[in-house]
Amino acid sequence: MVHNWQRRFLRLYRLVLSDPLAIAQVWRNLGVSVGEGTSIYRNVQLGRGGADPIVIGKNCVLTGCTILGHDASTNRQLGLKSSLKQMVTIEDDCFIGHGAIILMGVRVGRGSIVGAGAVVTRDVPAGSVVAGNPAQVIMMVEDLVNKRRVLVEQSLKDIVGERE
Ligand SMILES: CC(C)(COP(=O)(O)OP(=O)(O)OC[C@H]1O[C@@H](n2cnc3c(N)ncnc32)[C@H](O)[C@@H]1OP(=O)(O)O)[C@@H](O)C(=O)NCCC(=O)NCCS
Repeated sequence: MVHNWQRRFLRLYRLVLSDPLAIAQVWRNLGVSVGEGTSIYRNVQLGRGGADPIVIGKNCVLTGCTILGHDASTNRQLGLKSSLKQMVTIEDDCFIGHGAIILMGVRVGRGSIVGAGAVVTRDVPAGSVVAGNPAQVIMMVEDLVNKRRVLVEQSLKDIVGERE
C-alpha cells in the first residue's frame, strides 16, 4: 500500500527531475558553480558534484552529458590517494549534446555547440560546433544556424502548403 506522503514525495521528485532549471539549482546546492538561466537535464553527470572544479556559465543547456574535473587513471602509478583535478569551464550560451564527455582541463568557449557523443579533450574555440572522438571543429555555430533556418523555413512552407 502506498501512503499519501509517499505519493506526494514521488510527485515532487518527478516535478524536480523534469525541470532542468530546478536540476541546475540542485547542482548549485551540491557546490557546482552554475550560471543563471542554465538548464541541466536529469541524466547529466558533473564530476563528483562539488568535489570537482567545474564552472558552468549563464544560459547554457546541458543534455545527457558527462563533465569530468578529475582523472584517477594514474593514481596507482603515482602513489596518489586522491585524483588529479583540473578546472573545466563551460562559458556562457553553450549547448552540450547528449552523450558528450568533456575531460578535465577543457574550456568550452562562449556560444559553442558540442555534438552528441563528442569526447572533448581540447579547448573549444568560441562560437564553434565540435563533434567526434576526439572532438574537432566541424563548422561555426553561425553556419549551423543558417543551415537550420533554411530547414525551418522549408517546413513552415510545407505546413502552409498542406493547409491550402
Ligand atoms: C553537431 C550537430 C549540431 C551537427 O549537426 P548537422 O549540421 O546536422 O551536422 P552535419 O550533418 O552537417 O555534419 C557535418 C559533419 O560532421 C559529422 N557529424 C555531425 N554530427 C556529428 C556527431 N554528433 N558526431 C560525430 N560526427 C558528427 C557528420 O557526419 C558530417 O561529417 P562529413 O562531413 O564527413 O559527412 C549535431 O549532429 C548534433 O550532435 N546535435 C546535438 C544533438 C543532441 O545531442 N541533442 C540532445 C537532445 S536536444
